[in-house]
Amino acid sequence: MEFLVNIFLLLWVTFPSAVHTTRLRTGRSEIQTPNCKNIPGDLLWPSDYEWAQLNNSVNGRLIAATPIATVCHGLAYNADACTELQSTWSFDDPHLQSPVDILAPYFQNQSCDPFTPQETPCRLGNYASYSINVSNADDIQAGLQFVRDNNIRLTVKSTGHDLLGKSTGKGALSLWMHNLKTIEFYDECTSGPKFRGPCVKVGAGVIFDELFSAADSRGWRVPGSSCPTVAMSGGFAAGGGHGLLSSLYGMAADSVLEWEVVTADGDHIFARPDNHEDLYWALSGGGPGTFAVVLSLKIRVYPDEPISGANVTFSNVTVGDTDRFWDAVTAFHTSLLPVVSSGGTVYFLLTQNSLIALDIAVPESNITKVDLVLDGITSKLADVGVNLNITGTTHSGFLDMYNTYIREVAVTTPAAQIAGGRLIPRALIEDAQASRKVTQAFREAVEAGFNILCIALDASKPPLFENAVFPVWRSSLMTCLIQMPWDFDAPWAEMLSRQEQLTQTIMPQIEAATPGGGAYLNEANFQQPDWQETFYGTNYPRLREIKDKYDPQSLLYAMTAVGSESWAAASDGRLCRV
Ligand SMILES: Cc1cc2nc3c(=O)[nH]c(=O)nc-3n(C[C@H](O)[C@H](O)[C@H](O)COP(=O)(O)OP(=O)(O)OC[C@H]3O[C@@H](n4cnc5c(N)ncnc54)[C@H](O)[C@@H]3O)c2cc1C
Ligand SMILES: *[C@@H]1O[C@H](CO)[C@@H](O)[C@H](O)[C@H]1NC(C)=O
Ligand SMILES: *[C@@H]1O[C@H](CO)[C@@H](O)[C@H](O)[C@H]1NC(C)=O
Ligand SMILES: *[C@@H]1O[C@H](CO)[C@@H](O)[C@H](O)[C@H]1NC(C)=O
Ligand SMILES: *[C@@H]1O[C@H](CO)[C@@H](O)[C@H](O)[C@H]1NC(C)=O
Ligand SMILES: *[C@@H]1O[C@H](CO)[C@@H](O)[C@H](O)[C@H]1NC(C)=O
Ligand SMILES: *[C@@H]1O[C@H](CO)[C@@H](O)[C@H](O)[C@H]1NC(C)=O
Ligand SMILES: *[C@@H]1O[C@H](CO)[C@@H](O)[C@H](O)[C@H]1NC(C)=O
Repeated sequence: MEFLVNIFLLLWVTFPSAVHTTRLRTGRSEIQTPNCKNIPGDLLWPSDYEWAQLNNSVNGRLIAATPIATVCHGLAYNADACTELQSTWSFDDPHLQSPVDILAPYFQNQSCDPFTPQETPCRLGNYASYSINVSNADDIQAGLQFVRDNNIRLTVKSTGHDLLGKSTGKGALSLWMHNLKTIEFYDECTSGPKFRGPCVKVGAGVIFDELFSAADSRGWRVPGSSCPTVAMSGGFAAGGGHGLLSSLYGMAADSVLEWEVVTADGDHIFARPDNHEDLYWALSGGGPGTFAVVLSLKIRVYPDEPISGANVTFSNVTVGDTDRFWDAVTAFHTSLLPVVSSGGTVYFLLTQNSLIALDIAVPESNITKVDLVLDGITSKLADVGVNLNITGTTHSGFLDMYNTYIREVAVTTPAAQIAGGRLIPRALIEDAQASRKVTQAFREAVEAGFNILCIALDASKPPLFENAVFPVWRSSLMTCLIQMPWDFDAPWAEMLSRQEQLTQTIMPQIEAATPGGGAYLNEANFQQPDWQETFYGTNYPRLREIKDKYDPQSLLYAMTAVGSESWAAASDGRLCRV
């Protein structure tokens, strides 16, 4: 120990700038806080002994990182396991089960993947170094204390779905929330004088597959995601959260009644509309991973009812001509307006030559009324000479409709991708000329090889309790991902240049065609310029104040999260204050 201290002093004397510190003025005294986080290999990186002490304080729940693709490298190589991993790597599943693995290829950065040669070592790269298999608030408090004492980075991971690199970090201690599986239904929850009714308490590790079936078996439905493996109480509801019931109940955040959290200072509190209301406001839509660590939330549930669905496809071939196909796309966008205002949502995919409406969800079981909604779509398309038959199916409840149309598509479509996102204001689609410009920008994106995956919804109803959902949601007709599956067979440099193309060319074209829009912070490009304005808009200043109040030392960092502009990655990947 003394030896280390001497080396430290020697370094300090010899290269004072190598010991990253900065002076911060506080009320009375001047304290020194380090400018950069420690990473493995640094003198100040905790010793094995210190990690073992942390392990004791979390009852043996500390896990040293072993990325799943370890089986593809060096001495741990296992041909069968590696081949299997190659086939599942682009999907959610393998990453879901791992304490440190994540879905976003750009941030995986090939440091340990199943496609690089066996002789390439498995390196941690951007993966967290250690994880705590969190079981309760004490584990989170111990983790927060440890990163504070040792000046290391903290990350929070539930499923690892995040597309913007928010659930990973070089040299981090990760809070792994996956095993918090509480699902408890209550017939009567209250929230101030404004709400009394049923709700469910959902642990941070609960994914929608689990929650949808638990709710279904009790006759309830919850405002969830279209993806069965996203976690309700992780990034989803905290970022806003959209799904097939959004035109009925608004964004998921609009239905949240309470957040059970541990703050950066270690306080275990319940943020509600009438308790820590500023934190409640920020957590409900202001973005995950930055205001506090969430243990669970309570969210409203709604009585399940029969609901209908439909799907339809048209292409340049069925329509007979490429220009007419794009006119039909414009007509289709217009036809969505009455669907969403009657409580429906439409999930659709636009590829170079086809539009696939995967699910037209209509909250109605009277087939006459369902047909009326579907006729609205067919007649708009007939106006441009495109004749379609759309036949609805009715279902006993939400889950059956979801399973019929969406679940299979969601689990069989590769999820590893390059992604940007845009909210499309309703007013643009209501205006014929503006609407054609939107279509033209989409056309340019798909002709450049990107897909466009949208959900049309109406989330305009003001929430019961004010929250930090990005205001542009309220006036938008749809949110669209502009994306491309990550091709692991292509040279890495080619995928990096596709990412550049998205940032430099494709997104600016879409933005130019969608004035007044913005982007859903959970489905967006991590390289988005002016992300504060584009993801948070007018909410940003207040969100930043709340961030500084509840996390004054800025322990919780996530790419593009509120407050993250105070940090930047140095060339070796460590986070440093800017
Ligand atoms: C295939 C796919 C489909 C999707 N479909 C939809 C959809 O239909 N609707 C929709 O709205 N979104 C959708 N998303 C986006 C999704 O909502 C976000 O990726 C969301 O952040 C995922 O949250 P997570 O906790 O599951 O993932 P993670 O990657 O584990 O976490 C995401 C973020 O939340 C933080 N976080 C996680 N847990 C906690 C916690 N307990 N406390 C504090 N911070 C935490 C992480 O630090 C990170 O910043 C989809 C994403 C993918 C990849
Ligand atoms: C933490 O302790 C448990 C139980 O003793 C042990 O199995 C685990 O390997 C330890 N974790 C680390 C990182 O050493
Ligand atoms: C990826 O790894 C290389 C080194 O192999 C590094 O130079 C680069 O900065 C890393 N990129 C990211 C996004 O981490
Ligand atoms: C994490 O903890 C849970 C119990 O909460 C246990 O079942 C599981 O095996 C642990 N996982 C790992 C990887 O240690
Ligand atoms: C449309 O839905 C039916 C189930 O109702 C399904 O069999 C069919 O494959 C779907 N078609 C498309 C194009 O998704
Ligand atoms: C459909 O699009 C493809 C690819 O752009 C093109 O080759 C084909 O000629 C088009 N077909 C029609 C009928 O427009
Ligand atoms: C279905 O809706 C139509 C049109 O509103 C109505 O005339 C009819 O009575 C309804 N049928 C049932 C069974 O409710
Ligand atoms: C629509 O269905 C009707 C009756 O089933 C059929 O006659 C017609 O050809 C169909 N039209 C299309 C475009 O498939």
